[in-house]
Amino acid sequence: MQPSPYTPGEVARQVPGRAAQLSEIDERLAYMIDLQRLVGRVRVDVAARGVGKTSLLREVQRRAEARGVLTVWVTAGEDLGLVPALANEITRQTEGWSSETRKRLRTLLDSLTVTVGVPGVAQVEARLSAPAPPAHGVREFEDVVRHTVDSARSEGRTGLAILIDEIQAADAVGLRTLGYAWQHLQSEGQNVPAAVFAAGLPNAPEAIAAVVTFSERFAYRPLERLSPDAAAIALSAPARASGVEWDPAALDQAVAQAQGYPYTLQLIGHATWLAAANPDAGTRLTMQHLQAAHRSVTTDLAALFRARWEKATAGEQDFMRAMSALGDGPVQRGDVARALGASTRGVSVTRARLIDKGLIDAPGHGELDFTIPGFAEYVRAYDDAAAPPVRSAIAPPPDWVTLCDRIDPRITTDPNWPALAAQLDRASQTRTDVGAILRAIASDHRDFTDQPARSLSYLVADHVPDLD
Ligand SMILES: Nc1ncnc2c1ncn2[C@@H]1O[C@H](COP(=O)(O)OP(=O)(O)O)[C@@H](O)[C@H]1O
Ligand SMILES: [Mg+2]
Repeated sequence: MQPSPYTPGEVARQVPGRAAQLSEIDERLAYMIDLQRLVGRVRVDVAARGVGKTSLLREVQRRAEARGVLTVWVTAGEDLGLVPALANEITRQTEGWSSETRKRLRTLLDSLTVTVGVPGVAQVEARLSAPAPPAHGVREFEDVVRHTVDSARSEGRTGLAILIDEIQAADAVGLRTLGYAWQHLQSEGQNVPAAVFAAGLPNAPEAIAAVVTFSERFAYRPLERLSPDAAAIALSAPARASGVEWDPAALDQAVAQAQGYPYTLQLIGHATWLAAANPDAGTRLTMQHLQAAHRSVTTDLAALFRARWEKATAGEQDFMRAMSALGDGPVQRGDVARALGASTRGVSVTRARLIDKGLIDAPGHGELDFTIPGFAEYVRAYDDAAAPPVRSAIAPPPDWVTLCDRIDPRITTDPNWPALAAQLDRASQTRTDVGAILRAIASDHRDFTDQPARSLSYLVADHVPDLD
């Protein structure tokens, strides 16, 4: 018995499919470490929830640490405010350092905390004024960065990487302090080996542009869903590390179900693993396991959909209803407005709020899509029923057990059943509708011999001639 290697709702242990991002980030890290230079632009990876931003940022942290960099991680949007949160984290990370180095840094951190003051008050002030440098704190923050880097170097570290998750939720003063400090460092402190990497929801560029004037300091990079190959690796590699293999047909089916959305992929992997009863090395994960996992995956997804649906206002729900009625793929913004009897401008506030909440996304010009695969179907089903249904959000894999039981209940207990099930899996990978064949055989009411699974196998082979 081995525990599941999958991580639904947790930071991924590996991030397959992110080679392009990581190679750009590695290049920036090398620039900072090898040349001891400032990375002048703040990289922000942008995507809806569940696409893998935090996991990518944690991988960046691991890589930076592995190269001797001091890393400071904050999740923005907490009461404290971005700059005080960074100051706290720097204090925490440098606690074990030699006393002289620490003393000076400590003084600077204290002065920064005093200057920045209570974030609640500062936030109000920031909203009222036009984007301009905050009155206090920029120089102090810059000093803290410089001094943290100096202390880090004297402790044998190679630089400083600041990692900011959920950057779209950062307070205005915090973002401006960071932005202006980086602006100064870029012109006066190029020899300071420091970098900022961030992640945020799709509204991050807008949220940052609203409070910082020099948007060229920030480099936004959309993070996409996983390609089918990356998704297949994300499922098979953790299993293989435990000596467990996925049957190719089951793997293909799982990849198709997840539609590249990493959270769904982890749910499917995890539930399939449990359906195989925490397999030992040498076990195979088959279509049967995937099928047995189906109910638990849809229940978990439905819970997620429901939680998100209930966070939306009535107007936002109307908007999503109109979207879902138009189909599963990306839909035209104009069509949604028309369905609501409004102009495109008339629905733009609702649309923007739904994007901010991470429920929908604008993949192409004038297009809108739900961020989680299966959401449109959920909304349609929700509309049909009084109570939110636990309905299939993804097409279920064929249920061989039920179909074969209808032909002859002895089939699924026959010693040849596993071979037959594997044959059916392979047959379903061709263009043949195997379910239809099985239903046709069932309605023939044949009498099978004492080897019903083998007999059925011959019949299936007759219908799917090019199967090995
Ligand atoms: N590259 C990846 N491959 C497979 N699974 C991933 C990958 N990145 C993230 N995940 C999984 O997807 C889910 C969401 O990841 P997370 O990093 O929290 O996304 P976000 O921060 O964008 O909401 C988690 O269950 C995580 O384990
Ligand atoms: Mg996250």
